[in-house]
Amino acid sequence: MQKHNLNAIQEIVYKATQKAGFDVCIEDIRIEKTKTIEHGHFSCNTAMLISGKEGKRPRDVAEEIISSLDKSIFEKVEIAGPGFINFWVEHKFYTTECQSLIENFDEYLSSSLDEETGKTMVIDTSHPNVAKPMGVHHLLSTIIGDSIKKIYKRIGYKVVNDNYLGDWGTQFGKLIYAIHTWGDMKVIEKDPIPELLKLYVKFHDEAEKNPELDDFGRAEFKMLEDGDKENRELWEYIVKKSLDEFGKVYSRLNIEFDVINGESFYEDKMSEILDFGREKGIIVDGDGGSWIIKPEEPEDVPVLVRKSDGATLYATRDLARIKYWENTWHPDLMVNVVDVAQEFYFKQLFFAESKLKLTTAKNVHVSFGRMQFKDTKMSTRKGNIILLEEVLNEAGERALLLAKDKGLDLSESESKELARIMGIGAVKYNILSQSRTTNITFDWDKVLSFEGNSAPYLMYTATRAKSIIRKSNYSEGDITNFDLSATSDAEMIVLTHLMAYFDMISHSAKDFKPNHIANYLYELAQHFNTFYNGNPIIKAETEELKKSRLLIVASVIKVMEDGLNLLGIEIPKKM
Ligand code: ARG
Repeated sequence: MQKHNLNAIQEIVYKATQKAGFDVCIEDIRIEKTKTIEHGHFSCNTAMLISGKEGKRPRDVAEEIISSLDKSIFEKVEIAGPGFINFWVEHKFYTTECQSLIENFDEYLSSSLDEETGKTMVIDTSHPNVAKPMGVHHLLSTIIGDSIKKIYKRIGYKVVNDNYLGDWGTQFGKLIYAIHTWGDMKVIEKDPIPELLKLYVKFHDEAEKNPELDDFGRAEFKMLEDGDKENRELWEYIVKKSLDEFGKVYSRLNIEFDVINGESFYEDKMSEILDFGREKGIIVDGDGGSWIIKPEEPEDVPVLVRKSDGATLYATRDLARIKYWENTWHPDLMVNVVDVAQEFYFKQLFFAESKLKLTTAKNVHVSFGRMQFKDTKMSTRKGNIILLEEVLNEAGERALLLAKDKGLDLSESESKELARIMGIGAVKYNILSQSRTTNITFDWDKVLSFEGNSAPYLMYTATRAKSIIRKSNYSEGDITNFDLSATSDAEMIVLTHLMAYFDMISHSAKDFKPNHIANYLYELAQHFNTFYNGNPIIKAETEELKKSRLLIVASVIKVMEDGLNLLGIEIPKKM
C-alpha cells in the first residue's frame, strides 16, 4: 500500500539509512513538524540517534543519509544544529496528499496507520449504579470511554463496549428493606430514581442511630440472592427504571453500548473461579474464614475474594467479568475507564487476574481525575452528584443566548438544533480537551466561549470552512482535481499540520488520551483561521490561487470532521 503523510517521509529516510548502511529500525525514525516554518517543514533526529552507535559525528551521519536520500519529493534538505535533518517538501507531494485525502478519506487513513487490523478491544465505560442518579465520574467515564472506543475503531480494532452496571451487592438489600419499611410504590412510581435515592439515604440515616438495620439489609440481600420472588421482582423493577433513566442520558449524548452486562450477570459465574483458585492453592484462607489471594510482598494488602460470611464482593464479580470477556471475545486489549479513586483496587484486581491466569489480554485501567466546578452552586450540591440533565439543559440554554448575542440569523428550529449540538458538544469537548490524568475543570464561560480552546470555536471554524466551499460553487469532486500553486507561510503551516493528523490518532490511542486529538484540532483551527484571515479564497487574485486554496479548505474540513467525530462531537449545519 502506498504510504502517506509523515509515514511516506519516514519511509524515504529509512531507505536512505539502509542504503548508507546504518543499523536502525523504521519505528525509530521520528518525523516531526518543525517549530517554525523558516526551518523547513519537517525534521528528524535520526542522525543523532545513529551517531552514538556508529561512533561518528552526528553531522557526518546526516551528510551520509542526505547523500543516499531519494530527493524527488523534496525542495530542499538541510542539516541543522547538532545534526538534525530539516526537510522542505514540494507542492506536488501536498497536492497528491490533499487530493487522496478528500477523495477517499477512509482509505487514505487506513494506509497511514500502523496495522492494527484484526485486533479486538473490550472496553468498560459508564457503569453507573442502579437506583442512583448518574454521578459526574460516570459522565466522565461515559464520554472519555466513548471517544477511546471511536479512536480504537479508527485504528482498525474491533471494539466491544460493555456497560458494567452496578446492579448487585448488599446496597440492594438495604434499599429493599427501606422500600418495605418506609416506601410507597405509588409515590416511587411517579418519580422512581429520586424517590429511591431518598429511601436509600433514609436507610443510612436510620442505620446510624440503629446499627441493627444493617443486618436487616444484609438479610434482604441474602433473600434476593436466594431467589426470593418478591425481592427479585422489586430488584428487577429498580433495574428497569434506572436503565430507562440512564437511557435518556445516553440517547442525548448519542452513545450506544454493544452489551449491557451488569454485576448481577456474574452471580452464577464466580464459583467456577473460586473453585479453580482454591484447587490450585491460589485462593487461600484469610482472617475469620474469609478467602484471599496473598500479595507478592507480605506487607502488602491481600485481595479479598470471599467474605467470612461466604458472600462475594465487587472484586469477585470483576474477576468473573474478565474471564467472561476472555471466553466471549478473546480480546487483545481490555480497558476499564474508571475514576482514579479506584486505582489501588484495579492494581489488586489485575494482580489477582494474573495469578488466576484469567486472560492473556493486556488489561488497562484508564483512570481520570475529579471534575472541579468553578461555579460553586454546582460544586456544593449534595454529595457532588450533579444531575447531568441539568448540565446539558443549562449548556443548551447558554448556547442559545450566546448565539443570539453573536447575532446569528437562525430560525426557531435551527436555534434549537444549534443549542442542542453546541450544548452537548461543549460539555464533551471540555472533558476531552483536558488531560484526563489531572483534575478536569468546568467553567461555563470557557466551555461556551467562541474564542479559545472550546467546542463552539471549533464548530464555528468548521461551519465557516464548509460555507466557503458552498459559496465557491465547486463540488468536492471538482476540488479533488485541483492543484496547489503558490502558497503563503500560513498555508504551508496548515498543510504541514494536516500531515500530522494520523500520527496524532496513533498517539492518542497509545496513551488512551483523546485530548491529543482535541488539542491538535484546536491548533488546526487556529492555523486555518490565520490562513483564512490573510488570504482571500473566493475572491483570490487568480482562479489558480482560488483552486489551490479550496483544496486546502476541503482537506481541513475532512480532518476537522473526522477529529470531532472521534470526540463524539457533531458539527452544526449553520452557525
Ligand atoms: N459501578 C462502579 C462505581 O460506580 C464502577 C465500575 C467500574 N468498573 C469495574 N470493572 N469495576 O463505582
